[in-house]
Amino acid sequence: MVDTGLWYEMAGLLPDERAQVHSRQLAEHVCEAMANAGGWLDFARFMELLLYAPGLGYYAAGSIKFGAAGDFITAPEMTPIFARTLANPVGRILRELGEGEKTTILELGAGSGKLARDLLLALETPPQHYLILEVSPDLRQRQQQTLAALPEDLRRRVQWRDCWPDDVRGVILANEVLDALPFHRLRHTGGQWFQGGVSQGMQGWQWDYRPLENISLTDGLPDMKDFPDPYETEVCPLAEGWMATLAASLTMGCAILIDYGFPSREYYHPQRSNGTLMCHYRHHAHGDVFLYPGLQDITAHVDFTRLARVARHHGLKVKSWQNQARWLIDEGIIQQLEISRSVENPDYTALSAVQTLLSPAEMGELFKVLVLGTGDNNGQAELELGC
Ligand SMILES: C[S@@+](CC[C@H](N)C(=O)[O-])C[C@H]1O[C@@H](n2cnc3c(N)ncnc32)[C@H](O)[C@@H]1O
Repeated sequence: MVDTGLWYEMAGLLPDERAQVHSRQLAEHVCEAMANAGGWLDFARFMELLLYAPGLGYYAAGSIKFGAAGDFITAPEMTPIFARTLANPVGRILRELGEGEKTTILELGAGSGKLARDLLLALETPPQHYLILEVSPDLRQRQQQTLAALPEDLRRRVQWRDCWPDDVRGVILANEVLDALPFHRLRHTGGQWFQGGVSQGMQGWQWDYRPLENISLTDGLPDMKDFPDPYETEVCPLAEGWMATLAASLTMGCAILIDYGFPSREYYHPQRSNGTLMCHYRHHAHGDVFLYPGLQDITAHVDFTRLARVARHHGLKVKSWQNQARWLIDEGIIQQLEISRSVENPDYTALSAVQTLLSPAEMGELFKVLVLGTGDNNGQAELELGC
């Protein structure tokens, strides 16, 4: 691999021997795929292998990933107050569908299973089914361990699915899943688009930009006339396909999608000339996609306008669009914090977690909540999203 500056060595973050062996195995697997593809992989394919190669990729193998000992921390990992707040809108949507009716929660990419556990414990009337669609066998196993501790009446509602159910009456949830879908990296320079990919250089893998052949990848991008040269960005057609499938799956109810991102006009902004690609290794965010294959997460921000357009095209309506802080406050996170601090956690742990979720400098502003659903639309939210 390319020697990338060794900041992680200086910070004492070298992986142990076992992890390094694992990483080298994945690197060999990627090299083989690259050779079979003629020496170049487009970035989406490269990322797919790094994150999801069976038994080897970051999400497909056994590294810790979440929490203090992992590489990043998500809202449900931080505090159960997140799930308890989510129980408010979820409970409302389930109730609107009718007491005693057959209702379902479908959670996509359930991570360690903590959101499922805490949400089921917080809902006054749990759904008949809590389905989980998880691509990672390792995480599916971890979810099973987490959820095994639930009381029997709740545990029996949970099932894992290998493909999307086609008749969800209820709620579809995805927290930080869209940012983990493989995306394409594009560069505009000299009046032309190039596609980012990876090839083998003298000292290891290297970025290798080639003239863009599939020009439809630039559909919906702004005219680059007044943009800096070069300008780099990301597009994620996989997320659009994912949204079309979600729309087909949701017969009645809502989808709540939480992730970091922007509407298109902010995403493809002249000042964002390096795109949004980000890697996470042991709580360090950086841009080196070649660092320890399989031992770090790779992500990009979500273009919510594009997703909302696809959803609308497939018959769903935009119900609401807010930043995470506004949405959590509206749904009662402060009341949940007070209950939690009076009952179980009088120290500052819960307070500090909620502060991280709400602070504009941390997750409050960058993270957005897009609620899509059947029924009426919210014209103001559609206007703000520009869809
Ligand atoms: C960043 S983690 C977030 C986990 C969890 N939702 C949380 O908030 O802690 C991304 C999750 O999405 C899963 N994932 C990635 N692609 C997926 C897909 N196409 N369908 C379902 N899950 C997927 C990963 O395996 C992982 O569980």
